[in-house]
Amino acid sequence: MPNLSTNYLGLELKNPIIVASSGLTDSVEKIKELEANGAAAVVLKSIFEEEIIMEMDEQMLNMTSRPYIYPETFDYMSDEPEEDLVRKYLRLIKEAKAAVSIPIIASINCVSSQKWTYLATEIEKAGADALEINFFVLPTDLNRSVDENENIYYEVLKEVKKKVALPVSLKISPYHSNLAHMVKKLDDSGADGVVMFNRFYSPDIDINNLTLNTGQVLSGAYDFKNTLRWVGILRDRVKCSIAATTGIHSSESIIKQLLAGADAVQLASIIYKEGPGYIDTLTKEIYSWMEKQGFENISDFQGKLSQDKSNDPAAFERVQFMKHFRNFVM
Ligand SMILES: Cc1cc2nc3c(=O)[nH]c(=O)nc-3n(C[C@H](O)[C@H](O)[C@H](O)COP(=O)(O)O)c2cc1C
Repeated sequence: MPNLSTNYLGLELKNPIIVASSGLTDSVEKIKELEANGAAAVVLKSIFEEEIIMEMDEQMLNMTSRPYIYPETFDYMSDEPEEDLVRKYLRLIKEAKAAVSIPIIASINCVSSQKWTYLATEIEKAGADALEINFFVLPTDLNRSVDENENIYYEVLKEVKKKVALPVSLKISPYHSNLAHMVKKLDDSGADGVVMFNRFYSPDIDINNLTLNTGQVLSGAYDFKNTLRWVGILRDRVKCSIAATTGIHSSESIIKQLLAGADAVQLASIIYKEGPGYIDTLTKEIYSWMEKQGFENISDFQGKLSQDKSNDPAAFERVQFMKHFRNFVM
């Protein structure tokens, strides 16, 4: 019988399927259902830096409206809000940990390394198995350099790693001027894992009403290719774990990511579309494929087709159609 277990962030997972941070993982009931259907771990819906800071600011405001508060009182607040959202988030971690046996990965969505980092310690105390940091600022500021934009990633990682012993992963976007260098630097700076790549909400235009509207919320089944490329390129160049995400909708695309070198995959859109029961279908299909191929363990084939190990390393870096597809016809 093939064994689907894999190691991600130092956590032993029973199979490579993690349910990605989303509304699918925002309650204990949903997490229990995901576990019952075979999910190997879940990443909780992110708590957002803006939410944390907003609650801290509200408290400040409440305090300043009280005339008997001395200015020094603020020094004792140590930036820690007595908030609802934060408390709710920590309660979700504790209750989820008590209710299921799969790893619970907390998630913080942030845009700076400022006041929020105390929360990493609270998340660790609440019992989370790991922390995923979803960091992204769209680089639209014409006056900011690449270094200024990218240094924040290392600062955030450094701040958080100083505070916790938990495994910490960075969920990153593909939009970097030197992605390979950046991931290597995150790896060297102590990241336990990278999650490639976050998928962002993008605006769309309604040409009939001449308005902006909501773009596609869920990914499509062909969206996994860019992730596949970078998992393959980076697998043998970094030591940290790699989770592949975006557009992974089938057992076939999961197997491809594993062959390229991912340690695990994170799924959201397809679970929204098909429901949690689909996880069981996916694991069964991976099982049958492994049996057919004669693989007993995930490690028997994981990374077998990374850039360094594949029969055609150049394919990972091939981006122009001109030379290779000159005679392409439909
Ligand atoms: C409705 C929805 C909500 C999401 N919320 C979050 C979130 O709070 N934090 C986060 O890091 N990613 C979030 N994501 C991104 C997913 O975790 C995932 O990385 C992305 O959707 C790509 O995977 P997919 O193609 O399987 O959907 C969300 C995605 C969807 C569709």
